[in-house]
Amino acid sequence: MKKFTFLFLSLILFINCKKAPVPPTGLVTEKAMVVSAREEASKIGVEIMKKGGNAFDAMVATEMALVVVYPFAGNLGGGGFMVYRKADGDVGSLDYREKAPLAGHKDMYLDSLGNVIPGKSTIGATAVGVPGTVAGIIEVHKKFGSLPLEEIFKPVIALAEQGVPVTANQERRLASQREKFIEVNGDSTKFATAFKEGDIIKYPALANTMRKIAEHGRDGFYKGETAQKLAAFIQKNGGYITEEDLEKYQAVWRQPIIFKYKDLRIISMSPPSSGGVTINQIFKMIEPYNVADFGHNSPKTIQLFTEAARRAYADRNYYLGDPDFVNIPLDVLLSNTYLENRMENFSFDKATKSSEVERGNVQIVESMETTHYSIVDAEGNAVSVTTTLNGAYGSKLYSDELGFFLNNEMDDFSAKAGVPNMFGLIGAEANSIAAEKRMLSSMTPTIVEKNGKLWLVVGTPGGSTIITAVAQTILNTYEFDMSMQEAVNAPRFHHQWLPDMVIFEPEGFPETLKDEMKSKGYIINEERTPIIGKVDAIKVLPNGKLEGGADKRGDDAAVGF
Ligand code: DON
Repeated sequence: MKKFTFLFLSLILFINCKKAPVPPTGLVTEKAMVVSAREEASKIGVEIMKKGGNAFDAMVATEMALVVVYPFAGNLGGGGFMVYRKADGDVGSLDYREKAPLAGHKDMYLDSLGNVIPGKSTIGATAVGVPGTVAGIIEVHKKFGSLPLEEIFKPVIALAEQGVPVTANQERRLASQREKFIEVNGDSTKFATAFKEGDIIKYPALANTMRKIAEHGRDGFYKGETAQKLAAFIQKNGGYITEEDLEKYQAVWRQPIIFKYKDLRIISMSPPSSGGVTINQIFKMIEPYNVADFGHNSPKTIQLFTEAARRAYADRNYYLGDPDFVNIPLDVLLSNTYLENRMENFSFDKATKSSEVERGNVQIVESMETTHYSIVDAEGNAVSVTTTLNGAYGSKLYSDELGFFLNNEMDDFSAKAGVPNMFGLIGAEANSIAAEKRMLSSMTPTIVEKNGKLWLVVGTPGGSTIITAVAQTILNTYEFDMSMQEAVNAPRFHHQWLPDMVIFEPEGFPETLKDEMKSKGYIINEERTPIIGKVDAIKVLPNGKLEGGADKRGDDAAVGF
């Protein structure tokens, strides 16, 4: 009897141990939190919530603060996507992605022989898509905001006027692009200066532009003086955007992609971002396997994930584009039968080969130029936003008069079917250029519910690696029982169908593991071991408190109360 009691108690203890919540290792706060690429931006978002603003007000503030403190990716001249979940469980998403100008057309980046003209979609005014960010924040504010726009802008404008100290990372980033800034803008541009760590950069022109937005909303940007100056500036530099393009721009509320993975409900961005569809496919392809038993970053887990990603990216590149222009067979792509069939030829014994087509010498470049932030407010509203200029400082085109950089998002279109873009992504007809079309994105702002309650808010920059980094962070938390901060910090790997190679981050993947993968036929990119993503996330702990995961890979910071 004694023996039985002992066994019974041990069993209870074992079950309880398994269920014991994983202790947090990131910043823990009681009520509200912002995690973003810079502490100053997280602080401004939090300040707005302390003044009584909700997560949506904080989004407007954080997005604008990033323009000032993180010009690398924070933007007025770019675009993004936002996924939200309100405290009452209502979910939705906003697409404020850039668009091709009215003058845009399929062959606009090709020469007379039909070849892609190098640089035309990546640098300078020809690369600029119609910016969406201001329309995005104004739309969010109109629908969900609670504080007056002017009050939200106040601390941001003050920061732009006072100036922001240059960090060591920023000095390095600015220096690496300085020649290009001069090439595009001439040597009297603000960023022709070789800024050093500790220098204070003030943004009076940006403060003026923001004042107009704070006062007149979207008309303060898409109409009147700012619009005239912006269109004239882009055209003077050889670009295509007109005042009409600006006036016509609209952000669009879209139905997010929603799917179940075991007892999670995952809510992510729908096209024109590929993020939601592609993680939906990846999760459904791995769901039948017990990855928790395989172990974190074990050969089996990496193999399974890689094969799911390979198949999902192949679909992404062929089928996905702007839903306002192309029919995307989502019902088929996301159906269980289709996804089961896709994995039918998968075996743990050896790698599946991606098509040989157009493999060439494509490189996946290390790039963190987009930025993600996650917000939860005291009521439990959650906002997940990824926003971008595309490349570092976008097209490098900087309006000294208006105080901001312009995107090079046109490169996210497929300039020519089968020719890779700067992320090595190979597109097809669905993502070809057309006037007023939105270019396909990989941005994956995501919210996860567990047992019907808000659980994670997550996202990252990283170009084509965004999707795999978000998926791995969710798996780390759910399958491998990591705290939010551990899940964000954990080493990541990536595969995107073409080029047919697995990339691993520099640390955390032993040679023995790589050898085992190679023996099964996987091609491993040994030359490049870039950092993959810079995830900023929030987890709701079982006691209702919030744990931040601010990626150790950057200057990212969680702030809250
Ligand atoms: O929308 C996209 O997928 C890309 N423009 C994102 C660019 C990006 O993440 C750059 N930084 N890593």
